[in-house]
Amino acid sequence: MQEKPYLSVLKGKKLDTPPIWFMRQAGRYLPEYRALRQKSGGFLDMVYNPDTACEITMQPIRRYGMDAAILFSDILVIPHALGQNLDFIEGKGPVLESIRSEKALADLHLENIDKTLNPVYEAVSKIRDQLSKENFGQTTLIGFAGSPWTIACYMVDGMGSKDFTHTKSWAFQDENGFSKLIDLITNATIHYLEKQIEAGAEAIQLFDSWCGILDEISFNRWVIEPTAKIVEKLKIKYPDVPIIGFPRNAGLLYEPYVQETGIDAVSLDYQLPLSFAAKCLQTKVPVQGNLDPSYLLAGGIRMEEAARDVLKAFSKGPHIFNLGHGVIKETSPEHVEQLIELIRA
Ligand code: CP3
Repeated sequence: MQEKPYLSVLKGKKLDTPPIWFMRQAGRYLPEYRALRQKSGGFLDMVYNPDTACEITMQPIRRYGMDAAILFSDILVIPHALGQNLDFIEGKGPVLESIRSEKALADLHLENIDKTLNPVYEAVSKIRDQLSKENFGQTTLIGFAGSPWTIACYMVDGMGSKDFTHTKSWAFQDENGFSKLIDLITNATIHYLEKQIEAGAEAIQLFDSWCGILDEISFNRWVIEPTAKIVEKLKIKYPDVPIIGFPRNAGLLYEPYVQETGIDAVSLDYQLPLSFAAKCLQTKVPVQGNLDPSYLLAGGIRMEEAARDVLKAFSKGPHIFNLGHGVIKETSPEHVEQLIELIRA
């Protein structure tokens, strides 16, 4: 059987037409998502209902036939499963009961996480079945998790923030205590990802949305080290499952990230210069990205030009077309269709 296009590029092959998928391809820009969202109790109810999560994952695939489907879930199910209170508040985003000291770690438990996470694993198997039932045999299923640093940011600050001051001050004042939090998240994440792979995830993406707020030394300690540990452990059991890292806004630190974590491919934010990424990263691992989602929102001729610039910059090596961050909720579904047509033409 021929290898799926997305998987073959992750393994280093260059294809004339790059495989394509978009971060947040399932979500609020789709009317069928909004309809389901209105009927359901809340965001977490959808995440923990395997039928709903499967249905939402399938929605963009049915419309556009992307080369990859990404499990519908959220990175914050890990703190939730560890025992932290979590709410998604309309218009505000996630809110957690913050944890600010080593003492508070006693309330978190690694042993019971599957009680919360079993519906996620069930969703993964359902999606694999559904993809073959609906004849999307060439579509790869991506599982995912947040990276320990980004998860810690939400666990400690308790909500989204520009600079995550509480997290940084804990990390900088009490390295030993903070490392216990990072170890706990790292171990939970390894287990969680192994279970996703067992259930049918064919590739894994690690989202490190907030690594860009760290200096070089802290980046090594809190981003590269735990990421390398996750990769190392997953590779023992599942050497053939590709792992994509997304160290968003890491700038020049993308280079040591790629060289030192052991990830198989790297996802690029839209701020990263194309020439730097082609020269310093794509020569080492396949790259995924990186159109600014605002071009997709805007549509029209500038979207086409910007997409062509991305294609051209990465035409010499393995490339997966994607955005540099998630689809913006006001985006027109027609623009998504136009962009995919352009990439495939
Ligand atoms: O990409 C996908 O479509 C897969 C599903 C997915 C979601 N969140 C669904 C979601 C993935 C991969 C994520 C990752 C995630 N979640 C990240 C890392 C990527 C990034 O965006 O930087 C982060 C930081 C989170 C935490 C999170 N979840 C925030 C900050 C928010 C609120 C912001 C927002 O867009 O509303 C969420 C909510 C969320 N996660 C939604 C979806 C579809 C919106 C929920 C809704 O109101 O319907």
